[in-house]
Amino acid sequence: MKRSRNIHPVFERVVKREDKEKLLKQHAKVIWLTGLSGAGKTTLGATLEQELFKRGFLTQMLDGDNIRSGLNKNLGFGLEDRLENIRRIAEISKLFLNAGVITINCFITPTEAMRQMARDIVGANDYIEIYVNAPLEVCEQRDVKGLYKKARQGLIKNFTGIDSPFEPPKNPDLEIRTDQLTVEQSVQKILEYVLPKITMKNKPLFEKR
Ligand code: ADX
Repeated sequence: MKRSRNIHPVFERVVKREDKEKLLKQHAKVIWLTGLSGAGKTTLGATLEQELFKRGFLTQMLDGDNIRSGLNKNLGFGLEDRLENIRRIAEISKLFLNAGVITINCFITPTEAMRQMARDIVGANDYIEIYVNAPLEVCEQRDVKGLYKKARQGLIKNFTGIDSPFEPPKNPDLEIRTDQLTVEQSVQKILEYVLPKITMKNKPLFEKR
């Protein structure tokens, strides 16, 4: 990779994250949903976003199909491209974090190395890993997008869980079994975990300086 030189990031004069969080009356976090295609990441992410919005939180949802049709449309599904996909998403999440905004990230993020990189870029304190878990057989049976069928027919190469690896997260902050819980129950569990971390105690008034 070509490295840039003569780069001087500005930190001094920009408004601090802390002050932006006060303005928004929330603590920013990156909520990273990882799991197989069809496990329910996007469904849970979208419902979670609705629930947080109702409670007055400003969020931004990022998901595979959207990011890959814009910013990352030059990337494919080999492991190297997936790593680059995740690296860019983690960097974007960090920008949102510094703007005080909570991101809800819905990406397969299939390997430990990718998740570790995301955690490192975002910063361990602000990274919440949620394993959206349904067995491969269940995801394949759901086949919401018809992609498993195509992968089995050999029409899609490097499909996660078929001919490309998925390493189950070893130490997620939370695991949600979407084959055992309803969407509402799953989101409830996520809210219970996340709300204490994003809620600002004694919601301070934003002070002009
Ligand atoms: S990741 O592995 O790099 O994290 P990402 O979450 O961005 O993947 O994209 C996954 C989405 O791309 C899937 O939900 C599916 O719709 C689509 N897709 C297309 N080809 C593949 C493939 N070979 N493997 C997995 N998902 C694929």
